[in-house]
Amino acid sequence: MGLESREERVELSVDIAGVRLKNPVMTSSGTFGYGEEYSEFVDLNRLGAIVVKGLSVTPKEGNPPPRIVEAPAGMLNAIGLQNIGIKAFIREKLPFLRQFKTHIIVNFFGDSIGEYVQAAEELSNASASDGGIHALEMNISCPNKEDGWIVFGTDPKAMKQVVTAVRKTTNLPLIIKLSPNVTDIGLMARVVEDSGADAVSLINTIIGMVVDVKKRRPMLANTTGGLSGPAVRPIAVRMVWEVYRAVKIPIIGMGGIMTTNDALEFLVAGAKAVAVGTGNFVNPLATIEIIDGLGRFLAEEGIYNVNNITGSLEI
Ligand SMILES: Cc1cc2nc3c(=O)[nH]c(=O)nc-3n(C[C@H](O)[C@H](O)[C@H](O)COP(=O)(O)O)c2cc1C
Repeated sequence: MGLESREERVELSVDIAGVRLKNPVMTSSGTFGYGEEYSEFVDLNRLGAIVVKGLSVTPKEGNPPPRIVEAPAGMLNAIGLQNIGIKAFIREKLPFLRQFKTHIIVNFFGDSIGEYVQAAEELSNASASDGGIHALEMNISCPNKEDGWIVFGTDPKAMKQVVTAVRKTTNLPLIIKLSPNVTDIGLMARVVEDSGADAVSLINTIIGMVVDVKKRRPMLANTTGGLSGPAVRPIAVRMVWEVYRAVKIPIIGMGGIMTTNDALEFLVAGAKAVAVGTGNFVNPLATIEIIDGLGRFLAEEGIYNVNNITGSLEI
């Protein structure tokens, strides 16, 4: 049988938190806008899922510029979670996204448990009345303004509280996006699993800093920012592998994925699906090329179901 007909036999669909994705490749939050921005270049129907920019109950302007700076093999961003707010998203962006045969995952955040709960409630209500939202991805890399500014995702107790509260609020599949700025990511994943999460995604950006030595000032107005891109990939792959050994719920892996080979590293290490973030800025067609590349690789390897490569790492 020729390679092309073998490629057609490859089953790429995966089940994440009860949602059947046509393939395991999605976009990562904050790097693909609300989908519309890329729709001229990318056939959105082909994507496993679109994860939209992080939303909050009230719109946010984000941080003052400069908010982005280059770093070796990556970039540092301090956008400050700028977004149009959940109500405007539902009114202005979701109708556009509903036309496509893909799954929509809404990333959201808050700066108190109450705000996380309210956000989850508004998104669940919108989904119940008009559909179009297939899962929630909760960004826990935010400080709790009501409780000493402790970042939810770096404190097991705060994380348990917020995930438990949101779990009670929504019946939508709940994906928790883990922060890599911790010592033991496996432990954090276990806390999240025990608190009722359906899946985890990782990694979010790693806190970094770039200095303008002439001015003796940080390059970013916010002083620090989140590092993303190929620079973080080996850390992200290691963390996915650690989480794979720690929990039973599915993992969505991300961090510096630019090519099919990069995506495969995450799958072999234990991810069931992957997301492309910074890679979209360099090559807007990265997701499509990776979907095609996965089919080709699996056919060449004689593996006809992508699920069989998840966690296939041998040590
Ligand atoms: C400009 C920018 C904005 C981002 N915004 C969000 C966001 O709103 N919510 C979130 O959970 N992650 C956000 N992220 C993190 C990415 O979704 C992703 O987890 C991270 O960048 C690592 O993947 P990458 O190296 O492929 O970009 C953002 C990343 C970048 C570069």
